[in-house]
Amino acid sequence: MTEVNILAISGSLRTGSTNTALLRAAQKHAPSGVSISLYENLGAIPLYNGDLDTDSPPTAVEELRAAIAEADGLLIATPEYNYSIPGVLKNALDWASRPAQSSALLHKHVAILGAAPGNFGTVRAQLALRQVFLWTQSKVVVRPEVLVFNCAQRFDEADNLTDETTIELMREQLTVLRDQILGSVSSPHTSHSG
Ligand code: FNR
Repeated sequence: MTEVNILAISGSLRTGSTNTALLRAAQKHAPSGVSISLYENLGAIPLYNGDLDTDSPPTAVEELRAAIAEADGLLIATPEYNYSIPGVLKNALDWASRPAQSSALLHKHVAILGAAPGNFGTVRAQLALRQVFLWTQSKVVVRPEVLVFNCAQRFDEADNLTDETTIELMREQLTVLRDQILGSVSSPHTSHSG
């Protein structure tokens, strides 16, 4: 099977981030034909400044744009901060979205997931993130949605994802992302069972 290369971006800078742990689990449990690499330089992206957005942007920005452009798709794990996405993630996407007519995000396939300790599993942050990808014309996987609520119960002490339901749902989402990239899905799946 053709292998698709996915760049995974966590919206949390914390060493012990649950969302980053979720992406490590996605790497470990990826379905066949999916290879996932983790983007680890979010903290080095400067605040967006149009004056710096020239033909020679900051190195970290250039590298981020190149990494996104080279990937077949993105997997973004977002925490929920105040009912939205973290500023660091929005900032990186703002950089990646320029120039608008030829950005690395233009028509890029994207899957979104997120983990939170409460009962809502980042649903509001994920909706906010989907809205960002309207402007960039990115092709976001519609379903299954992966909302990892009560996340503390789903990881062991070494931050390994142990919850089989979450693992299975994540694998389904990655399968849809893979098939969408390979062009074998003409319309979005309509149920959580894929
Ligand atoms: C939060 N948290 C949070 N949780 C939530 O479910 N809805 C929310 O609106 C917020 N708001 C919020 C704002 C800020 C500034 C912080 C720091 C935290 C809690 C958040 O879900 C929790 O800290 C997660 O563990 C963050 O994800 P990582 O860092 O573990 O990946």
